[in-house]
Amino acid sequence: MTLTGKRIVVTGATDGIGLQAAIELARLGARLHLVGRNPEKLSAAADKVAAASGGAPPVTYLADLSSQVAVRSLAAEIAAQAPELDVLLNNAGGIFLERQVSADGIEMTFALDHLNYFLLTHLLLDRLKAAPRGRIVNVASAAHRGSRLDFDDLQGERRYSAWGAYGKAKLANIMFTYALARRLEGSTVTANCLHPGFVASNFGGDARGLMGIAFSLAKRVGALRVTDGAKTPVYLCGSAEVEGVSGKYFDRCKAVSSSAASMDKAAQERLWGVSERLTGISP
Ligand SMILES: NC(=O)c1ccc[n+]([C@@H]2O[C@H](COP(=O)([O-])OP(=O)(O)OC[C@H]3O[C@@H](n4cnc5c(N)ncnc54)[C@H](OP(=O)(O)O)[C@@H]3O)[C@@H](O)[C@H]2O)c1
Repeated sequence: MTLTGKRIVVTGATDGIGLQAAIELARLGARLHLVGRNPEKLSAAADKVAAASGGAPPVTYLADLSSQVAVRSLAAEIAAQAPELDVLLNNAGGIFLERQVSADGIEMTFALDHLNYFLLTHLLLDRLKAAPRGRIVNVASAAHRGSRLDFDDLQGERRYSAWGAYGKAKLANIMFTYALARRLEGSTVTANCLHPGFVASNFGGDARGLMGIAFSLAKRVGALRVTDGAKTPVYLCGSAEVEGVSGKYFDRCKAVSSSAASMDKAAQERLWGVSERLTGISP
């Protein structure tokens, strides 16, 4: 696989799967646009990516992706740097032990793990359409299995659990990808999503109590290394095998079935409408 000169945006590029994917993509010759929220981590990530590329240093952007104002100004900055984008890798995400709300008053998991993907994709779509074959790659999770969206309590106001909110947001990633791929039919842009595997990244690093113990034990026993966790995102960003493939969910570099709930087209369209309303994107 060579990606010489391809312009690739990676969110959550300062740690875990996103950082490793950015390093691998740089090794393959891509021109990276790295998004992070912490200036020191972003600068350290840029150094690692630059060392891997041996070519032009990556372009870096600071943004808290749970904030829609920040996502909008990030998109404007990227658009000013890149008239064309070959790939958008939506990867930044997290899990929140206690229910929190974003600067926009939206439950944090839904804001960061889903609405950020939705809004950033919309704002960069013209740039992806300007490239010969744009790709949108959404990092979802097998944690979507067993989840179902409750449109009467989408933001966990009545009932909240960290794992429940996370599973629903990752289900939303997949439903968004399928609805997006339908809208992109006939264009040059594809949209796919993936499960990276259970990866010993910094994910859940803030967890305390029982959940903290569960995360650290699980990471020690049977979790993939980040180099393996980056394989499916890198494959979807660059492989010729998936050229023209759209609207699929991948695990271990293979298209597989996602849950029955994720395939519900009426629910996908309902989620789309809610996401447009919550981000102020007009239909
Ligand atoms: N690890 C797994 O087993 C696993 C399994 C399935 C799916 N996933 C998915 O994989 C993706 C990457 O997770 P990971 O495992 O690599 O976790 P990670 O090591 O915690 O990395 C998460 C990345 O997202 C960034 N981020 C978090 N909140 C942000 C915010 N508000 N604004 C901007 N950036 C923010 C982090 O920035 P900082 O460096 O500043 O913290 C970091 O770069 C997520 O979408 C996750 O749901 C992970």
